[in-house]
Amino acid sequence: MKLAILSALLAAGSGSLGAIETAKGFEWNDITPTESLVFHDCFGGFQCARLDVPMNWNRTDGKGSRVAVAIIKIPAKVPVTDERYGGAILSNPGGPGNSGITSILEDGKRVQAIVDATVDPPSASSFKSGDKYFDIISFDPRGMNNTTPQVTCFPDLVARQAWDRAMASEGHMTSSDVAYATKYARFMALGSSCTARMKIHGEEEDNLLDHMNTPHVVADMVAIIEALGEWREKEAMRLLDSPTYREYTISSGHQKLLEDPRESGNDRAAIIKRTSWRKGEEKLQYWGFSYGTVLGATFAALQPHRVSRLILDAVVDSEDYYSLEMKHNINDAEAVWQRFFYFCALAGPKGCPFSSSPSDTEASLRQKFDSLLSDLERQPIAVLPSDNFETYIPDIVTVSHLLEYILKSLNEPAIYWPIVATVLHDLYNGNGTSLAIVKEKEFVQTPPCTKCEDPYSPSCQQPRLGEDPMRSGSIWCSDAREYHTTPQDFKDTTLRMMEEQSPLFGRYWALRKMQCVAWDVKPKWKYSGIFRDIDTAHPILWIGTSGDPLCPLANAHKMSAAFPGSRVLEQASQGHCSPSAPSVCTARHIRAYFQTGVLPEDGTVCEVGYEPFQELKSAQKLGYSGEDKKIWDALKERFDGGYRLAGVIGASESSAALNAKE
Ligand SMILES: *[C@@H]1O[C@H](CO)[C@@H](O)[C@H](O)[C@H]1NC(C)=O
Ligand SMILES: *[C@@H]1O[C@H](CO)[C@@H](O)[C@H](O)[C@H]1NC(C)=O
Ligand SMILES: *[C@@H]1O[C@H](CO)[C@@H](O)[C@H](O)[C@H]1NC(C)=O
Repeated sequence: MKLAILSALLAAGSGSLGAIETAKGFEWNDITPTESLVFHDCFGGFQCARLDVPMNWNRTDGKGSRVAVAIIKIPAKVPVTDERYGGAILSNPGGPGNSGITSILEDGKRVQAIVDATVDPPSASSFKSGDKYFDIISFDPRGMNNTTPQVTCFPDLVARQAWDRAMASEGHMTSSDVAYATKYARFMALGSSCTARMKIHGEEEDNLLDHMNTPHVVADMVAIIEALGEWREKEAMRLLDSPTYREYTISSGHQKLLEDPRESGNDRAAIIKRTSWRKGEEKLQYWGFSYGTVLGATFAALQPHRVSRLILDAVVDSEDYYSLEMKHNINDAEAVWQRFFYFCALAGPKGCPFSSSPSDTEASLRQKFDSLLSDLERQPIAVLPSDNFETYIPDIVTVSHLLEYILKSLNEPAIYWPIVATVLHDLYNGNGTSLAIVKEKEFVQTPPCTKCEDPYSPSCQQPRLGEDPMRSGSIWCSDAREYHTTPQDFKDTTLRMMEEQSPLFGRYWALRKMQCVAWDVKPKWKYSGIFRDIDTAHPILWIGTSGDPLCPLANAHKMSAAFPGSRVLEQASQGHCSPSAPSVCTARHIRAYFQTGVLPEDGTVCEVGYEPFQELKSAQKLGYSGEDKKIWDALKERFDGGYRLAGVIGASESSAALNAKE
């Protein structure tokens, strides 16, 4: 059993879809952290900054440790001086602890395509008054990935990998009493050694673990939007005072300003007024996913006057989250998985490899799966050496590997179900190769031994930072009420409750809470976890899919009730977070909200433009034109890219999966 997968589970769907190559020559370390934002070019077309903030926001003596928050930006398509400049939209990809940097590198351009006005500014001979173009921004939360210092519970990747593999080999926690007891002991070891380790590191000054739960991140967000206000003012002055401003506006296509008679003293005054830093009053525009909805709701509770736009997508019940009860997470997971059989039968053998005959029904496929599962539970499969598994590592696949992968697939059926169908088909034929391939991709990789004489050498370490098994837990367990339990109590209460929510997946979800059994941290600043009658400066838009495996739609309605005036938008699809299925309707509502602040009508349900196991149709085939075509093309790109990025079964590994989808 491995935690990296679980950590990814509460994340925005894309979080796990492959890595981005580091731009040549760019190193975060080359940027000196500053209290004002200074952006540097990075990753080709992006801008990066490191914001220097206190580790302990409660410290008033100006001393103590500092945190350097890594920030990434996709610049708006107009300069800040343009009246169409809409400010920054901040996003958070969930986890907790997932890398905002990675999410913007992978998905930021698509986010911008959705929220920006339809017409590209350079080609706009005329623009509608009120059109807006946004900066898209995110950050790595405290302790995570490029934000320093980091949480690390292991000295190096080798130790980390050994731990993961041992966890995986033990199977799931209900496979036997021994497995359960072992799992529990593991989390005792992990939690206590991690907190001890981090305390040694932080002994002299403030301890990172005491200062990285959600309220501190809210304070960081306030610091970010204030620093952005300061940056906007400076940037406007820089442009206005630059002798090349006129050329700049021409070269970037902003001729409007030039032709405009207001490009005069008067206009200058208007620009200065519009762009000036409203110190202490800068507002937030935000799109948060999954745990990012807890962060957003907490921001809204602590800073209601600063809410300008807040979209909370894949809604966690924040009260449940802070109480650590976890009663409202995987309640819909089984229902989502059941849809696999429905869509597989609908697609038939041509579209879904797990179906072997056009006469298969949802019920017959489910039965086939259930029997496969109990066979695999009784007898793991030895993976036979094959051309497709070049290294010939002796390997086995178990029911645990399968269920974990299925649970992951529920987040993004569009991308993962064709792969799952191939894996199930192969397993049904006694062939474990494709499952072996996909589960192997879930492990943290250390360089192969041939490339690396000394596994402890720096070149061998190249950590995929931010993937520590406690990265989610270090935030999640610290946010929670103090938690004391025993192995027996955990089994009788938590495990039982989770298995009631989901007989297949409860035992995996229970691991998330097990992370907290020995988490010996008392954060210096906690949020009460109560959400009642919060009056935000602008109403919140909540979004949920009809079948979210981790964040049931009911959560959106519950949370909405705590914020009078807010609205819920339902997207009629399965998957975690609205981008897990392409919907022009959802995208249009999101755009309208950011452009003008308007909310969808009460009870709005958005259809999506695809079905699992079907290829995504072109805009033309679906009859989209104009604005809708642009949106569809942007949405579609994610899925075309997604299959490639998911990369779990490439052409060389199994053409079956690819055939299945093409
Ligand atoms: C830390 O600061 C916050 C916000 O100002 C406040 O609500 C909280 O009580 C403070 N905590 C401590 C321990 O002083
Ligand atoms: C097992 O499955 C893999 C991947 O789908 C395939 O390449 C291989 O040929 C299969 N092995 C046998 C013996 O059918
Ligand atoms: C951390 O950020 C880098 C970019 O600086 C990215 O390449 C890497 O994938 C990120 N790691 C994780 C776990 O998101």
